Amino acid sequence: MSFLLSLLLRRICLFAARQGCLSHWEKLSSISAQKWRRLFFKCECFQKGGAFKFRGACNAVFSLDNDQAAKGVATHSSGNHAAALSLAAKLRGIPAYIVIPKGAPKCKVENVMRYGGQVIWSEATMQSRESVASKVLQETGAVLVHPYNDGRIISGQGTLSLELLEQAPDIDTLIVPISGGGLVSGVALAAKSINPAIRVLAAEPRGANDAAQSKVAGRIITLPETDTIADGLRAFLGDCTWPIVRDLVDDIITVDDEEIIEAMKLCYEILKVVVEPSGAIGLAAVLSDSFKKNPALKNCSNIGIILSGGNVDLGGLWDSFRK
Ligand SMILES: Cc1ncc(COP(=O)(O)O)c(C=O)c1O
Repeated sequence: MSFLLSLLLRRICLFAARQGCLSHWEKLSSISAQKWRRLFFKCECFQKGGAFKFRGACNAVFSLDNDQAAKGVATHSSGNHAAALSLAAKLRGIPAYIVIPKGAPKCKVENVMRYGGQVIWSEATMQSRESVASKVLQETGAVLVHPYNDGRIISGQGTLSLELLEQAPDIDTLIVPISGGGLVSGVALAAKSINPAIRVLAAEPRGANDAAQSKVAGRIITLPETDTIADGLRAFLGDCTWPIVRDLVDDIITVDDEEIIEAMKLCYEILKVVVEPSGAIGLAAVLSDSFKKNPALKNCSNIGIILSGGNVDLGGLWDSFRK
């Protein structure tokens, strides 16, 4: 494991040096969950492409050799990974083929197009997404870059911990949104390599709580359907991310959609930061009773919250605020 960690860190450091990482974070005491706790916000909504996904996408695209890169990259994603991959491919000057399920958020589809990704539509089901993607791969010879179940993606997402812990070395707890687990895997691997005592908590919507169920069951659980406002948090763990989530994520806090909306409002009203539902869930978790009343989490005093993205359809946002 330590060999793997050092390999990962070497790759991450290279990535950080090569890309010139962005660092946007804020410390805010006025919405601290409890007086003795300090909250630090890592604002990935300011990242290029509007989400942390640019980190992993860049690492994957710039890891390709010239022959691989020439044929381009492809993925199936309804959201932030698709835009990030399009942008990373544009920077390298190669094509990006993006399979998008019908009904994906409009602003995320527009981001893909803005960054020059070639959109290929599929039906909303995972089966249709995968079969359209495999046809695209056959026809183009492009390299598949999975949104989370890929070592290059996990390593890239880990750069977030390197930056955050450099900026705020006193952080003792990190709270990270979880879906397929690429973000939390990278964050946990890098953070625990720097500070093995740091606590890594994942935050998940109650209507898509497969990761929390997986931790309890000791194996990957998938759900027949999911129901949450957090459109980026509906995927299930993969065989690369599950062992890391199982071994390095200390706990998973589940929250309701109402709590996510409240946290989003706080981000807008107090932080003045545009955050999407999936991005606000870490703050929702810290403000939830399951966090505040958990005796095992009593000694979390310097908490790093990952505001993981800010791509939100404004029309839908006002509707959810009015409810
Ligand atoms: C804004 C945002 N936060 C968090 C996540 C979860 O990332 P992962 O699938 O790596 O767990 C996603 C995934 O799309 C996302 O778009």
